[in-house]
Amino acid sequence: MKVLGIETSCDDTCLAVYDNVQGLLINELYNQKKIHANYGGIVPELASRAHAKKIIFLIDKIFKKINIKKDIDLIAYTAGPGLVGSLLVGATFACSLGFSLNIPVLPVNHMEAHLLSPMLECKSIKFPFIGLLVSGKHTQIIAAYKLGKYEILGNSLDDAAGEAFDKIANLLGLKYPNGRELSNLALKGVKSDLYFPRPMKNHSNLNFSFSGLKTFATNIIKSSILNIQQKANIAKAFEDAVIDILLIKTQKALYQKGWNNLVIAGGVSANKLLRKKSEIMMKKFFNGNVFYAASKFCTDNAAMIAYLGSLYYNKLNFSSLEILIKPKWSLDDLSLLS
Ligand code: KG4
Ligand code: ZN
Repeated sequence: MKVLGIETSCDDTCLAVYDNVQGLLINELYNQKKIHANYGGIVPELASRAHAKKIIFLIDKIFKKINIKKDIDLIAYTAGPGLVGSLLVGATFACSLGFSLNIPVLPVNHMEAHLLSPMLECKSIKFPFIGLLVSGKHTQIIAAYKLGKYEILGNSLDDAAGEAFDKIANLLGLKYPNGRELSNLALKGVKSDLYFPRPMKNHSNLNFSFSGLKTFATNIIKSSILNIQQKANIAKAFEDAVIDILLIKTQKALYQKGWNNLVIAGGVSANKLLRKKSEIMMKKFFNGNVFYAASKFCTDNAAMIAYLGSLYYNKLNFSSLEILIKPKWSLDDLSLLS
C-alpha cells in the first residue's frame, strides 16, 4: 500500500511517497528559507503563495517517478496545526487530486506526524512512551499511549524552544532560521561566568517558559559590542540552559509515568547536545532508550505525513471524513480520526 504525503503547514513545501512494505520511496522538498530570510521570520502571505507555485513542480517530479492514479492508495495531508493560508494550499491540492483521480484523502495532524517520525526508520519503538516535541512553534511533553491517543503533560506558556533559538541566533548575527547555526557557534564557546536561568525549574508542573530566558540573553547581547568568542560563549550558555530545562521536565515526566522510553521529535530534536544529553539521562536514570529521527526528518517533511497516513490506512472509514483544515488542531484532540 502506497501513500502520497503532502506537507504545507508552514514554510516548507513537501511531497513524499511511503510504501508500507518497501519504506520511503520518494521525498521531495522545496525550502522557502530564502524568501523569508530578509524579514527575520515567516511572512504567511508569501509562504502560501510560494506553496501554490512550488507544489506543482514537486507533483510533476512525482508523476515522473510513479503512476499516481494506478499506484497511490491514499493521499494524506497536513490539516493542522499551522498557518491558515499554507494549510489551505496543501488541503485544496490534496482534495482536488484525490477527487480527480478517485483516491481517498486523509487529513492528518502535523504534531502527531512529528512525534511518530522516528518510527519511519526505527520500527522497534513501542507505545507507551514519553514524547518531547520541540519545534519552531511547540514545546510539549506528551504521554503517548497508542496511535491517536495522547495526553499533553506539559506545554510552553509562551515561546517555543525553537522560536527562542531562532530569535537569539538572529541577535547574534546568524541568518534566519538559525537554530542549527546557533548550535554550531556554541561548539566554539567555552565555559565562562555566564550562567543563564533555567525558567520554571522548581515548578512542580511540566510546563515551560522561554520568553524570560530570551529577554535575559537579549539584554546581554545588546549591552556591549561582542567579539566572536564572546558570541560563541553566549550561544553555549544559552543552548545549555534550553537543553537543561527541556531535560529536567522530561525527566520528571518519565518518573511520573514510570516509563523508560523517550521519543524526541520536531526541528529542535536535530540538536546534537539535546541528543547526547538525553542519551546519557536515559541510560543513567532509566536504563531506557531515547529515539529520534534522522536530521532530515526532524524538521518539516512529507515523509512523516505519508508514514502517518499509512498507520491510519486500515483504521478508517474514509467516506465519513470531511475535507478540512484545523489551524489550531491539538494533539490531545484527534477525535476527528477515530
Ligand atoms: O519542526 P520544524 O521544522 O518546524 C515547526 O513545525 O515549527 O522546526 C523548526 C525549528 C526552528 O526553530 C529551528 O531553528 C529549529 O527547529 N532547529 C534547531 C536545530 N535544527 C532546527 N534548533 C536547535 N538546534 C538545531 N540543530
Ligand atoms: Zn513542524
